[in-house]
Amino acid sequence: MCESDDDDLQLCPTTLAALNEFLKEKEERENQLKCSLENPNLDVSFDEDWQLSQFWYDDKTTDTLVKGAINCTEPTGKIALISCPTLYNKLKKYCGDRQVTLFEYDVRFKVYDSDFVPYDYKFPLNIPREMSNLYDLVIADPPFLSDECLTKTALTMKFLAKKNIVLCTGTIMSELAERLLDVKICNFVPHHRNNLANEFSCYSNFDFDKMLK
Ligand SMILES: C[S@@+](CC[C@H](N)C(=O)[O-])C[C@H]1O[C@@H](n2cnc3c(N)ncnc32)[C@H](O)[C@@H]1O
Repeated sequence: MCESDDDDLQLCPTTLAALNEFLKEKEERENQLKCSLENPNLDVSFDEDWQLSQFWYDDKTTDTLVKGAINCTEPTGKIALISCPTLYNKLKKYCGDRQVTLFEYDVRFKVYDSDFVPYDYKFPLNIPREMSNLYDLVIADPPFLSDECLTKTALTMKFLAKKNIVLCTGTIMSELAERLLDVKICNFVPHHRNNLANEFSCYSNFDFDKMLK
């Protein structure tokens, strides 16, 4: 900060220029993303924000999860994505008349308009009441490998799902996941663009592996 003649605190010209540059880039990226929804051939995405525990899937994993989601829902089915925003673009591209809703904490994803529902796992039922039991498939990837986070996310999953759920999380959470959600570990193993230190797994309460063939 710099002090001006009239004693107000102001940003230094260099800091102000850097801030303006950052805001301009942010706006460009958001416009680009909006554009990509209108033109599915354009592939853009947001950078990972590690403060928000964001670790994006690699392309093969995204393709596999999208294929599975499409194969296990009817052509007019409803799919909920909880804290797994990178699935949204590709799913929208191939889902036909299926409805896709993203429940996400990161407000950058507001660009998905009415498909975006602000979501904080700490308030697991702070979502529209009419969404109870609405979704033919719920896929979730909670931000933290903690009992508290998985327990609360599981509550949201059960609230939203008619029945079928897919959970991607650390293998270390397997016992609690099986207990809370009656899921089993899948053969399919999700991978990330940047390798994670923790072993990672996919779980489901139906034969999700069969949907990937
Ligand atoms: C481990 S990442 C999963 C991302 C997934 N692998 C993907 O590629 O889309 C966790 C996600 O949880 C979101 N998140 C962070 N804090 C959250 C919170 N308090 N409540 C719900 N979601 C949160 C992050 O923004 C991120 O999208």
